[in-house]
Amino acid sequence: MKIRLGILASHGGSNLQAIIDHIKKEDVQIEVVAVISNNSSSFAISRAKKEGIATYHISSKTTNDVGKQMIKVFKQHKVNLIALAGYMKKIPISVLETYPNRVLNIHPALLPNYGGKGMYGMKVHEAVISANELYSGATIHLVNSQYDDGRILNQQRVAILKSDNATTLAAKILLIEHKLYFDTLKLLAEDKIVLQ
Ligand code: GAR
Repeated sequence: MKIRLGILASHGGSNLQAIIDHIKKEDVQIEVVAVISNNSSSFAISRAKKEGIATYHISSKTTNDVGKQMIKVFKQHKVNLIALAGYMKKIPISVLETYPNRVLNIHPALLPNYGGKGMYGMKVHEAVISANELYSGATIHLVNSQYDDGRILNQQRVAILKSDNATTLAAKILLIEHKLYFDTLKLLAEDKIVLQ
């Protein structure tokens, strides 16, 4: 399928940037057509603007219907797939109902472990290190109404060294995330992963 991608991001947007950069380098049927952030001063928004992509600030602090605003943007840009890339808010149920099995998330651990409410960003890596795990990694999954719970589409693991701490582990995982998200989108664009 030709992907018209809408991306939601809250902070740094390095995954957003990696997706954009890979698309430029490879011959793929993927276009990032809109970027939404709950955070108007996020680096994700600056990155998207620099790339000439339409950006939107949609936050529960400024509107009482985040879902409706998001759907309006996605319809306007004919979005057919949504990717959460470091989006730290729960996605409104109305968006999931309008785009069933069309919302992806990236999580910095090997789900189903180290996911769920409150498990995001550094908290995930701190929990993994405290549990003395030998491996962690990244997961791309479909979003449903529960945190980090939908069908797993792709995963990659990394070994944890004795010398690793949460900060070094986060850096290693972010690096693999940057390739894994694009690779998964490419598999979708080439119909090698099919979303029901
Ligand atoms: C990434 O590590 C992503 O997996 C994580 O936030 C980071 C965002 O980085 N997401 C979650 O923890 C969601 N549960 P980025 O803004 O530089 O792409």
